[in-house]
Amino acid sequence: MKNKKIREIIKRKNKIPIVCLTAYSKTIAKILDKYCDIVLVGDSLGMVLYGMKSTREVTLDMMISHAKSVKKGISKSILVVDMPHQTYRNKKEAYKNAKKIIKSTKCDALKLEGGKKIINVVKYLIKKKIPVMGHVGLLPQSERGKFKFKGRSLFERKRIIEDARLLSNVGVFAIVIECVEESLAEIISKSIPIPTIGIGASKHCDGQILVTDDLLGLSNFTPRFIRKYSNIRRIINKSVLRFRHDVINKNFPSRKNIY
Ligand code: KIV
Repeated sequence: MKNKKIREIIKRKNKIPIVCLTAYSKTIAKILDKYCDIVLVGDSLGMVLYGMKSTREVTLDMMISHAKSVKKGISKSILVVDMPHQTYRNKKEAYKNAKKIIKSTKCDALKLEGGKKIINVVKYLIKKKIPVMGHVGLLPQSERGKFKFKGRSLFERKRIIEDARLLSNVGVFAIVIECVEESLAEIISKSIPIPTIGIGASKHCDGQILVTDDLLGLSNFTPRFIRKYSNIRRIINKSVLRFRHDVINKNFPSRKNIY
């Protein structure tokens, strides 16, 4: 069942760009909620927070736990949660896990990676009134080795366009397009009636998403599609160094900090 917020997002196709970011905790979610249309609890948390080698190691319990925290910081934006790897291999498994995520986190929608290969699963979830966001292009859960942008060969381009069209036809409310060549993102965005949300997929998309840690400069990850709006690592370094000095020189705690 698409709620009002999701119906409003669909209407933003070709209009004001949609602002999306990832959050893994209440503290960050509360800040993002003021400025974002969609907050995603992405399974990127496996690599970003837990230092895993790929998102394939992320479990359902990890996603639920972080999504519960994020939900506490959200009051107006749409909360989307990634279904982790191997939790939607068939309709029955997907529905059981999707219900569990929605029931325990009260999120608005789920995101699944892939197109043709998972189309029957996506169709089934939507038939069961679960709002789904699609994800095409580079699919971190399926990728082996170094992440490379998609859309170099004609075969790959056709497959990604078909994936997006199939997802749109079965009723996903928006599609994330990850790391594809610019003209491919433009073709997809022009050929489907629902919003496309790009990450490394050019400004032809109807909205943009980034991993918040990358935008803040908290991570060391620097592919060209990221714009770092801040250097939080530097701020943390400075603050922790000052704390260290204060402790060593017995400047902390001061009279103000004691009972
Ligand atoms: O897991 C994630 O954070 C994502 C975004 C990068 C789109 O899927």
